[in-house]
Formats: sequence, structure tokens, C-alpha cells
Amino acid sequence: MRLYIFVLTPIVSMKRIWELLREPLAGRAFTVKERQMLGIHGLLPPSILSQGEQVFVVMQNFFRYESDLDRYIYIMGLLERNEKLFYRVVTENLELMMPIIYTPTVGLACQKYGLIFRKPRSFSISRGLFITINDMDHVYDILCNWPEHDIKAIVVTDGERILGLGDLGSYGMGIPVGKLSLYTACAGVKPNQCLPIVLDVGTNNETLLKDPLYIGLRQKRVSGEVYDAFLDEFMRAAVKRYGQNTLIQFEDFGNHNAFRLLEKYRGLYCTFNDDIQGTAAVTAAGIIASVKITGTPLSQNTFVFQGAGEAAIGIASLLVLAMIEEGTSTEQAVSRIWMVDSRGLIVKDRPKGGITSHKARFAQPHVPVDTLEEVVHLVKPTAIIGVAAVPGAFTEQILTDMGKFNDRPVIFALSNPTSKAECTAEQAYTLTKGKCVFASGSPFKPVTMNGQKLTPGQGNNAYIFPGVALAVILCGVRHIPEEIFLKAAESLAGQVTKENLANGLVYPPLNDIREVSTKIAIDLAKFVYQAGLASTYPEPQDKEEFVRSQLYNTDYESFLPDLYDWPPPGIQCTYEDGNVVCRKVSRI
Ligand SMILES: *[C@@H]1O[C@H](CO)[C@@H](O)[C@H](O)[C@H]1NC(C)=O
Repeated sequence: MRLYIFVLTPIVSMKRIWELLREPLAGRAFTVKERQMLGIHGLLPPSILSQGEQVFVVMQNFFRYESDLDRYIYIMGLLERNEKLFYRVVTENLELMMPIIYTPTVGLACQKYGLIFRKPRSFSISRGLFITINDMDHVYDILCNWPEHDIKAIVVTDGERILGLGDLGSYGMGIPVGKLSLYTACAGVKPNQCLPIVLDVGTNNETLLKDPLYIGLRQKRVSGEVYDAFLDEFMRAAVKRYGQNTLIQFEDFGNHNAFRLLEKYRGLYCTFNDDIQGTAAVTAAGIIASVKITGTPLSQNTFVFQGAGEAAIGIASLLVLAMIEEGTSTEQAVSRIWMVDSRGLIVKDRPKGGITSHKARFAQPHVPVDTLEEVVHLVKPTAIIGVAAVPGAFTEQILTDMGKFNDRPVIFALSNPTSKAECTAEQAYTLTKGKCVFASGSPFKPVTMNGQKLTPGQGNNAYIFPGVALAVILCGVRHIPEEIFLKAAESLAGQVTKENLANGLVYPPLNDIREVSTKIAIDLAKFVYQAGLASTYPEPQDKEEFVRSQLYNTDYESFLPDLYDWPPPGIQCTYEDGNVVCRKVSRI
């Protein structure tokens, strides 16, 4: 009989090292046994922390940083070092973390990405995949370089219109990374199934082209046929690599491409655009919830939109779908919607210049009216929705009128950031004598009136897209028709509690988003199987149990039992006095 005392590290196979890197490498949560098995005993301080204690340490560090950018760098560094801990921290502190890992701080981070980006130590999603126009004809090969194989969701940008900041080229990587981290934090999508991608076709941003830190291609944007061919190749390569049902979310493309690509691909691939569809759904949800406060059925409301761009049209189209569901005819539903753009009310036979076909659907048979104030006065809407980024567009007159015309006027000032909002929460509440139901795109602080605290709702896309993505991934949805977003909006609106409504809130608290997204996914799962949109078979009978059983779990797994191909054939091991003792069992 021979006695082996193993030095364990060298026999950890490459695959296992890879798995280990997703775990808390050098994390103080390793138990003594694990430390010894890994050959890292003594390399860590003796006090062993539970994950809960680690969360405490992280939060202490987080608060120690004074600038939000530093907090971003710290917390994203944690994502790289210890994925599970990162997601536990973020999920437990969403209201605090959301503005750091996503807008507004992520925008700042993108602008400084050259400073932030370091050589990857591990390939967690904090890195992402860069595919450039020079990789044309080899996009599939580049995808094969990503070390994870079981990808279910891709968020992709070409960096042309990053938030409100403009063309950031490859610096835009922060956006897909941030969005996907919300897939996991808000909806429990498994992080190893997520892949952030930048398609670098160059940048037209002179500042970046001259920036010595810039990480992207130093050339002008490619457009036209070459751009389209590159996008086509990317889409084909993605499904070839990861399967037909791979969810591909488009993010922060320039407007001219965003709509075009959505129309082009939505019937061919499993794809959606959050800037367009997510925004529409979260707004529609707010409106649907407001109905419970105002008591006026949706189809008996009259909506005036300030703005007739893509956001307005997206929201209006969903509202029309919802009204049709209530039993209204399409014509009647459309007639409830009035849109005002920079040239006044959108009317049929508009004299000068006409209107685009998108807008034509919502053109009213009416004589031209020049200003929003006049339109409001004439139409006496129950709800006004601002999406044109014209600050102050909801004037004193308009707000006062809304208060006069309605018991509970609905006022949504959705333009971002705060400086672009159509009015402030305080203006809306004061001028309607505290009667209005108010929601905004950017957060506003609660307002106290006559001793009552009025809390503005914030229409944050994170209420919608993570839950939609979870359902799409789990049920193997092939296409994402508009109805999915309507169902998501209805599910979200249905989760606003009586208590929320009593406080004038049309969205659930941000901190509840994990449960909200899970419920959205469960509701969507029921819907997609009914509608024949799902491809995961056999159909799970209990949708709730099905969804909940698939959620990402932030608990550390003890990987000791299967860490190695262990014990090797013919060897039996025991753990004695701090050492692993292995004996050959075969009798020769
Ligand atoms: C160019 O990039 C910088 C960030 O480095 C950004 O602040 C600016 O808005 C961009 N300009 C345009 C026109 O996109």
C-alpha cells in the first residue's frame, strides 16, 4: 500500500479553473477545508466570512467612495472578482445600485471607458465581446472565442447613440454590460447565459478619434450597404453559434438604424429594442395603473402627446392595443389619441410638408391647431404625455387647465434627463392642487402638500425588459410580437398595490423589482404557451414553479465534491489532519 499526500493545485483541470474563476476566488468565504483543498490555505486572512458578512464589507467600501464613478468602478470590479457576491449586493440594494450600474452613472463610465477598461482577469460579463467591421466574414469565429457556450441572451450596440450622450463607439460597451447585469439582478437570468457585444463600425466622434485612451477602431463609421451586410452577418452568426432562439436585444443604436433594424429582423429572429418597445411598455403600464386611480376606463380616456416621434408612436400603439382588448374598435381607440409635434397638432391633410406614415395613423380629422396649450384647451384630455424633450412644455396654463378639467388628471413628463422634463413633480402637484397622477422618466423627490406626501412614479425600463427576457429565454420564444409587451405592461400594472395607488404611485417600489420581474415572466409564460409562441417542450404545467426553479441563485456552491475528477480511478481519499490522504485501492 502506498501513501500519497497530494499537492492539489496542479491537477485542477483547465475547465475547473474556469469554473472556479466564477466563484469567489480568494474570497474570504472559503472554508478551511476548501482552502486546503485548493492549496490556498494561509493565503487568506484566517477569519472566514459568510456571504452576508461579505455583503457588509462591500457596502462599507461602497459608501467610502465619494463619487458615483468610483462607486461604479468598485462595484464592477466586484463583478469580475466575485460574481455571486456582486449579484447578491445589487439585488438586495437595487434602489441604491441601479443609478450606479445603470443610468445615469453608466453614461459617465462609458465616457471614461478608456480609463476603466483593464485587461480581463476573468471573462465575466463585465468585459463583453468586441466585433469590428474588420472582422467581416469572420464574425462566427469571433463568437467562438467567447469562453461560455450556453448563451441565451445577447445585448448588442453599435455605440452610435449611447443614452443622451451621442456617438461613443466602443466606449458604449458599458451599456450592454449594464443592461445584462440588470437581466440577472432584476430577473434572475443566469449570468453565464448572457453576452454583451459591441459592433464597432467606427465612430464619427472627433473627440474619441483623438482620444489617446480610446479603445475602439480609429475610423469614421461605416454605413450603407456594408453596414447592413455586417449586421446581417452578425445576426446569422449569432444564431448559428447559439441557436435559433437566442434573444438579441438591440440597444442604443442611432434612431435611423434602430427602427429599420427592428422592422427588418423582428420576424426573422428573436429580437426586440428596449429603447422603443421597453419604453412603450413601461409607460403603458403606468397609464393602465392610473386608470385604477382615476376610475375612468382606458378607452374613455383622451390622450394628448407632446411629441410624435418614435417613443410617442410606440406608447400610443400599445395603448390602442390595450383599448381594443377592452372591446373598443380600432378607429375609436385611435380617435382617443392626439399628437402634437413641433409644428402643432397632427391633423389629416396637414398643409405644409405632410406627415410620415407612422404619424399618419394618429392624424385627427381636425383643423390645424398650433400650440399644445390650445390643443389641451380644445380637447380637454384626461392624460398628457410628454416625450419630446422640450423642457417646460407643460406650462402653468396647461397644468392648471388639466386640474380644472379632471378630478384626477394624469400627467406623465417622461423626457430624460431631469433637465429635459416637461415639468417638475412640484409644478404638476401644485398647479393641479395635488390632484394629479404624476410620473416622470427621471426620478423626482416626493412633494409634501397640505401635510400629504405625494410620491411621483418613475417609469424605469428596468421594470419591463428583464422580466420579458426571462420569459423569452425560459419558454424558448421565437419571435417577440407587440402583444408580449402589452402583456408585460398589464402584468406590471396589475402589481401596483392599493397602497401604492393611494399614494399616487403608478409603479411598484424599485426595490421590489426582483419579484415584479418574476411575476411578469410567469404571466408571460402563461401567455406565450397559450398563443403558441413558446418552443420549450414539454410545456411545463405549473408555470410559476417552472420559472422560479430556473432563477439564478447567489448562494455559493460548495464545489468540493466535484471540484476535481475526484478521486481518480483506483484511488480512495480521506481527509485527515488537514491533509488529503489518498490511498491506492487496487490490489496488485
Ligand atoms: C463624443 O464623446 C464624448 C465622450 O468622450 C461625449 O461626451 C460626447 O457627447 C460625444 N460627442 C458626440 C457628438 O457624440
